[in-house]
Amino acid sequence: PWAEDRARAILAAYAEMPGALLPMLHALQDEFGCIDEDAVPLLADTLNLSRAEVHGVVTFYHDFRRTRPGRHVVKVCRAEACQAVGAESLLDHVKRSLSVDAGGTTADGAVSLQVVYCLGNCALGPAVMIDDVPHGRVSSARFNALTDALRA
Ligand code: FES
Repeated sequence: PWAEDRARAILAAYAEMPGALLPMLHALQDEFGCIDEDAVPLLADTLNLSRAEVHGVVTFYHDFRRTRPGRHVVKVCRAEACQAVGAESLLDHVKRSLSVDAGGTTADGAVSLQVVYCLGNCALGPAVMIDDVPHGRVSSARFNALTDALRA
């Protein structure tokens, strides 16, 4: 969880660095898993920027997450080759079965869902990656089997 003391100590390490905002954001995300709402005013004060400027940078770069990811991360490919073999209906199934939207995390914090464009497994679509393990030819039934344990 967010801890202001720890955040201040992390930022202090970059105090003398020109263009410190991005390295600071990366360091905070590494430590806390996301860019906490409370990080924005702290960064603004530290770097003499407006909150809007800091917020703008956080939202511009897709690397930065605003909320902590779930304990497990499910990525579903939506690029062309997977679309041609049913990625859209698989994605609908995934959203329904996890009760989560793309980019969201289940209410119990167990699973985050990301929609991605190509997992490099195009010959075996629909392709899914679960906690960095790729799975190919994923049907709805297979998805349930793969993720039952995550949700237990
Ligand atoms: Fe889905 Fe490449 S298009 S893995």
